[in-house]
Amino acid sequence: MSVLVVGSLNVDLVTKMKKAPGPGETLAAIDFNMYPGGKGANQAVAIKRLGGNVTLAGALGNDSYGAFYHNILVDEKMDERYIKRVEGRTGLAVIIVEENGENRIAIIHGTNFSFLANDVENLAEPLNEANICLTQLELPMETVEKFACLAKKAGKTFILNPAPSVPLSDKLLKNISILTPNEHELGLIAGMDTSTDGQIEEAGRSLLKKGIGHLVITLGARGALILDNEEKTFIPAYKIKPVDTTGAGDAFNGALAYCLDNNMKLKEAAEFANAVAALTVTKRGALVSLPRMKEVKKFLEK
Ligand code: RIB
Repeated sequence: MSVLVVGSLNVDLVTKMKKAPGPGETLAAIDFNMYPGGKGANQAVAIKRLGGNVTLAGALGNDSYGAFYHNILVDEKMDERYIKRVEGRTGLAVIIVEENGENRIAIIHGTNFSFLANDVENLAEPLNEANICLTQLELPMETVEKFACLAKKAGKTFILNPAPSVPLSDKLLKNISILTPNEHELGLIAGMDTSTDGQIEEAGRSLLKKGIGHLVITLGARGALILDNEEKTFIPAYKIKPVDTTGAGDAFNGALAYCLDNNMKLKEAAEFANAVAALTVTKRGALVSLPRMKEVKKFLEK
């Protein structure tokens, strides 16, 4: 039993502000921090902190950001065998977090774009051991497509968290077991308006027709909607006051993959993942705010 995550590692440069500046405006910030992040690493560490078996594959640069990240991976006891070290600058995310917890993120792909389709071919061993394969869209599209194709061929459950969103090819869509967009990403992928619940369902059903097994659509503070050809199930979110919403989606996806790897049904997995995401937004930072299993159990007991 294990999860293979192929994905990004970014250093997050996070500025906290009362309100993000508008065009041409300069404002004083409340403070600044440098955190480990990147959707791939966040999701892999979410699984690890819950007690799961996980392998992370990706790339770091040979710069000071890469050295900073290496120390984090050591602290988190993550296996670095499949982390490629390359010339160049490690991926960065410049983030503004407003007082209400909302964020704005600009990504500099850096060495994440050095993790190529042929690097996925070197993952035969962890792919073979994995039940679940998980990725996002902060790597080159050819890498994502190759991973999906190999996962499907090997009979694995392939989860794609389509963030940050770009249009997806039909050849990728048909290899996806579970797609986990938020409503905006869903709209972009389906090429449809997703302003109302009816439109969300319609857009989701249009993607199911292209061969995706299930959709788990995250709806922010409202919760999540599971959609497949048999059922439509709404999972309400926990009511919490957010401090920083960065990494909520990663916590959700990591926890979902962890639960499915532990043979839970999709509905139970999404319920548990909602709790992990809720706990994550109560702290600042993405990776550093991910909860451990003990905290999740305590939260669920309440
Ligand atoms: O999902 C949150 C993550 O998105 C941040 O950690 C940032 O690095 C970007 O990848």
